[in-house]
Order: sequence, then C-alpha cells, then structure tokens
Amino acid sequence: MERLQKIMSQAGIASRRKSEEIITAGRVEVNGKVVTELGTKVNPNEDIIKVDGQKIEREKLVYVLLNKPKGYITTVDDPRNRRTVMDLIQDVSQAVHPVGRLDKDTEGLLLLTNDGDLTYALTHPSHGVDKTYIATVKGIPNQSKIEALEEGIKLKDGWTAPAEAKLVAELADEAIVSLTIHEGRKHQVKRMLKSVGHPVEDLKRVKFGSLDLTGLSVGGYRYLTNSEVKELKKVEDRVNSVEN
Ligand code: URA
Repeated sequence: MERLQKIMSQAGIASRRKSEEIITAGRVEVNGKVVTELGTKVNPNEDIIKVDGQKIEREKLVYVLLNKPKGYITTVDDPRNRRTVMDLIQDVSQAVHPVGRLDKDTEGLLLLTNDGDLTYALTHPSHGVDKTYIATVKGIPNQSKIEALEEGIKLKDGWTAPAEAKLVAELADEAIVSLTIHEGRKHQVKRMLKSVGHPVEDLKRVKFGSLDLTGLSVGGYRYLTNSEVKELKKVEDRVNSVEN
C-alpha cells in the first residue's frame, strides 16, 4: 500500500505537493469514491484511481541527464514558442520535467525526470543537493571577495547560505570562478557574483549532487544508470525520514 499522492506523482500527474492539492480539491476517486483525505493509502496494482475522471497509469520512471546548450529555456511548454530543453530530448517518450532550472544563457548539467518524489527531494530548499558552477567573471576577485561568497552574500531575498568558492584561473581582465551552492534561488550565481563586483559573462553548471558531465557533449543526453539513480535516491530517503 502506498500514499495516494505518491502514486499520483509517480504517474506523472503532478508533484507530490500539487497532488495533495488535487486530492483535497475533491478531484480524485479511488474505486469510484471521491477521496479527500491526504493520508489515504492505496494499492497501485489493484485500486482504480481516477483524476478528473481519467484513470491514471503508472509510467516507467526515467532519469535523463542533459548537457544543456545556451539558447534553450528550461520549461516544458513555452507560450512564446521559444526553444525549450524538451526540443533536445525528443526521443524520450515519458512525460519528464526539468529538476530545477538553468537560465537561457547558462550551459550545463540539467536532470529531467518523471519521478515527482525525487524532484521534490532534490529541489527542496532545506535538503537541496550541491550544485557546482564554473563562471567566467569580469575582473579578478581578490581573496576577501572569495571569502564573502563562501560566508554569505546579502541579496534582496536574504542572505545566501555558506557556499564553496574558488578562483580557478586569472586571465587578462577576467577570471574563472568555481562556486558550489546548495540553494536554488533564481539567478543566484549571477546575483552573488554581481554583488561582489564581478558580473558573470559566462556560466556553466558542471555538477549536480553526485552527477557530473563526464562524456557528455553540449546538447547531448543520456539515461542515468541504476546505480546513479540509487545514489540520488539517498537524498529522497533523507527528506522522507525528516518529514514522516
Ligand atoms: N544561477 C544563475 O544565476 N543562473 C543559472 O542558470 C543557475 C544558477
């Protein structure tokens, strides 16, 4: 027996949180009866679950690792018809969604999946995984700027959590900085570097939790192996143990 919202997120209906809203709104039926209670457990192999009158089927869970090029937006649909990351993975037949986001002009590692529980865990503000970015910035940050990035920067939405920052290379009038953060606020890396006086000229995400881009060219993607999925699921186990 499993929680109704878990089955719904696994079927690709919505995230676990959104599924809870759908349940309490009275849109879900189990064996012909409307269920609004959030703790309800069901047997996914026997019970007939309908959302808005449509029977839900369990979809095979897939995990896609994409090396996103610049020029693509991180969304499933774009009302303005711009190029999206979904255009790059057209052979994936499951209804996957991006885990978090990268800006249109940011390149690098983006995970996509139809596993709503894993998405919830990986993007959870207090459990979020470490993400490493390589930024080319204007000017050369001195040691005190690097320390400020590590200790916390006051942005308009509050102080950033401790991070890891390294000056990787000094060029003529720019530098390469590596920054590892575990939060995921909008434009966070660009805002942090701008606020210490070194605006980002180029940004690439090279690590996401236990994953990196080894062997993946820009625009390429691959499915995660079972052991890579298992490693990521440890984050989900941690979130579940805190919340249940
Ligand atoms: N931080 C940014 O500023 N942009 C991204 O795309 C990701 C993190």
